[in-house]
Parts: sequence; structure tokens; C-alpha cells
Amino acid sequence: MNIVANWSYPTAIKLGRGRIKELADACKALGLKKPLLVTDRGLASMAITAHALDVLDEAGLGRTVFSEVDPNPNEKNLEAGIKAYKDGGHDGVVAFGGGSGLDLGKLIAFMAGQTRPVWDFEDIGDWWTRADASKIAPIVAVPTTAGTGSEVGRAGVLTNSATHVKKIIFHPRMLPGVVICDPELTVGMPGVITAGTGMDAFAHCLEAYCSPFYHPMSAGIALEGMRLVKEFLPRAYKDGSDIEARTNMMSAAAMGAVAFQKGLGAIHSLSHPIGAIYNTHHGMTNAVVMPPVLRFNRTAIEEKIARAAAYLGISGGFDGFYDYVLSLRSDLGVPENLTAMGIAPDRVDELTAMAIEDPSCGGNPVPMTLENTKALFLECF
Ligand SMILES: NC(=O)c1ccc[n+]([C@@H]2O[C@H](COP(=O)([O-])OP(=O)(O)OC[C@H]3O[C@@H](n4cnc5c(N)ncnc54)[C@H](O)[C@@H]3O)[C@@H](O)[C@H]2O)c1
Ligand SMILES: [Fe+2]
Repeated sequence: MNIVANWSYPTAIKLGRGRIKELADACKALGLKKPLLVTDRGLASMAITAHALDVLDEAGLGRTVFSEVDPNPNEKNLEAGIKAYKDGGHDGVVAFGGGSGLDLGKLIAFMAGQTRPVWDFEDIGDWWTRADASKIAPIVAVPTTAGTGSEVGRAGVLTNSATHVKKIIFHPRMLPGVVICDPELTVGMPGVITAGTGMDAFAHCLEAYCSPFYHPMSAGIALEGMRLVKEFLPRAYKDGSDIEARTNMMSAAAMGAVAFQKGLGAIHSLSHPIGAIYNTHHGMTNAVVMPPVLRFNRTAIEEKIARAAAYLGISGGFDGFYDYVLSLRSDLGVPENLTAMGIAPDRVDELTAMAIEDPSCGGNPVPMTLENTKALFLECF
């Protein structure tokens, strides 16, 4: 089945195989004449990136790339990117990649015209109103993984390289103006990235669905997002060129990001410090800590999860859902626990303190304290 769709929610999304050829039109629709394509180092040398640049070049939009982007990008990447943007006289950004390239691209477009330091725009209260919105450059987003959903998000995650803390930088205008979801771009993802990013999408849906905040729209999106992951992630993992599965995983990723306006929880608040300290892959880390977090939250989410299980065609309520998560993880080659991921428990106190400070912490169904969070961390080894 060849799925093609044009959506206007939460932004303009052009979904379908081969639609990267519309990249130049997307840029022109936002008034761009000289976009800077931002991606990570690995992607910079891949054929999909060269092809995207060809599309821009052929339409007279140039082919300038900035790729000094680390996995879990930091403020040094951002500074270098802003310099490249200004030196090149660019008027907007094509954010191209997984969450790392997308987030850094969005942050460059946001920060290039601001005078305050980026940390002043952390996602706290109304801090975003400190920004001069008229100076935010247009963004076209092109995801090459199917997980973070950053392409439809209004935030970028930035790691502070001095403190190793991941901060969420938020501004409503960081939402890309046009998104191109071309499943062919994701075909070359290594299996481990397909698995990790797919589990990130699943974690977004699961945590949003379980968070105690009232947001039925997001809860509905989260449920259907979980169903798409259940049906299509194993297929995409098994056969990377299964375009129907890849397309549906792109939808699931976007849905996860839309849904997590409702909140995230302990999976993300544990995973963020682990990623920041050990540079592990974000989605894979989520998958590793998911079962202990489900057990931790059990009393608060048992009924909700039973409802989700029924929708997903899983029998046995909470226990059935829990077993399903274990089998999904093992089908995708997810490490059993943090030890199997190569992490020792020697910095648990530091990880715990960071998890409690993480903004996702507030959305967890069971309130997180230093004590119960340390115990939860120890369950993850
Ligand atoms: N903004 C948000 O809402 C949000 C949400 C969740 C996570 N994040 C952030 O996103 C980042 C993780 O993003 P990610 O999981 O997409 O991974 P990533 O962007 O770090 O990419 C992982 C690896 O996959 C490679 N890759 C990407 N696409 C490929 C392709 N099509 N073919 C071959 N290789 C490819 C990259 O070069 C990289 O080496 C983290 O920094 C995380 O904090 C952001
Ligand atoms: Fe995530």
C-alpha cells in the first residue's frame, strides 16, 4: 500500500515515499532563498543528504551544509551552527536528520537572531516570552529516523556540555513550518537505530497516555500511536525496506510528539541523565528502563493500561501488556538492563539527583522522590 497524505495538523506535513523532491518547494513556501541544511556528521556523507542538497541546488537554493552536530547535541554545536548561519547569510534552516540534527537545526533557526543566552529559554513557565519572536527564522524539517517526532515539536533538546544536563529549549515558533516525511529516507537506518528510535516513539505514546494530566485528545493519539508501533515496528526492524511499515512508523513518531504535550514520565526522566552522562542512544535507553518503570507505576496505571491492552488486542490486562513490552524488546534486540548496556551503578546518586530535576519527572503517575527514584534506578541494573 502506497500511503500519501497532506496534513495541516499540528503543522503542514507532506507524507509519502519520494516526497523529498518537494524540499525546494517547501523552502520557497516559507520564503527561503538561501537555506542552511543542518544535519549530523554521519548523515552528512550519506546519499540521502546529497540527494536533498541536489533538490535544493537545482531550484537555485544552494547546497550549504552544517554538520558539526553530536548525538545529544550541545551548546558548542549550537554556537558553531549559529556562526555558520550568520557567516553564510542564510535566511532559514532545513533541519535534516534524526532528533539530533532536527533539534540542532531548529535551535539554530531560533537562536540566530536572539541576544540572550540559550539557557534563558529553557522550558520553564513563560521563559519563552523572553525571546524576540520576530527574529526566529523559518524551518523546514525532514526526519530521517522515526522516533523523536521533533519534526512536529516546538522544542529542542540541548545538552549542557559543562554540567552534562539535558535541557529542553522551548518556543512555539520552533515548530517547523513545513515537514517532509519521506519513508524512503529511513530505509538505510541500521537495525539498532530503527529499534531505538521506534521505542522512543512508543515511550512517548506510553508515557503521555499514562500521565495524570487531563488531555483526552493526546490520550487518543497516544493509543493509536502505540497500535501503529505494535503493528509496524517489528516489520520495519525485520525488513528495513518495507515502505508501508516505515511510513506508519513515521506517523507513529509524529503522533508520539503531539501526544506528549500531555506529559512524559519516569522513562524519560531516567533516560535523560543516562544519555547525558554516558552518551547512550536516547530511544534505546528508554526501552531499557521501560519495564522497571512500568512496575514502579503499576498501582497508578493498572486500569488505564488494561484499557490500552484491550485496544491493542493484548489479553491479560496490565500483566499481558507488561509481557508484550518484554517480548517486543527481545524481538528488537534491546539490552536486558543498564548493565547489559555497559553502564555500572557507581553513579546512581548523581543520576537520581538529575532524574528528580528532569522536567519529565512531574508527569509520572507515581510521584518521584530521591528515595524511590534511587530504588527504581537500582532495578534498572
Ligand atoms: N525535540 C524533541 O521533542 C525530542 C524528543 C525525543 C528525543 N529528542 C532528542 O533526539 C536525539 C535522538 O534522536 P534520534 O533517536 O533520532 O537519533 P540521532 O539523531 O542521534 O541519530 C542516531 C544515529 O542515526 C544516524 N541516522 C539517522 N538517520 C539515519 C538514516 N536514515 N540512515 C542511516 N543512519 C541514520 C545518525 O547519523 C546518528 O548516528 C536526542 O538528542 C534526544 O534528546 C528530542
Ligand atoms: Fe524521547
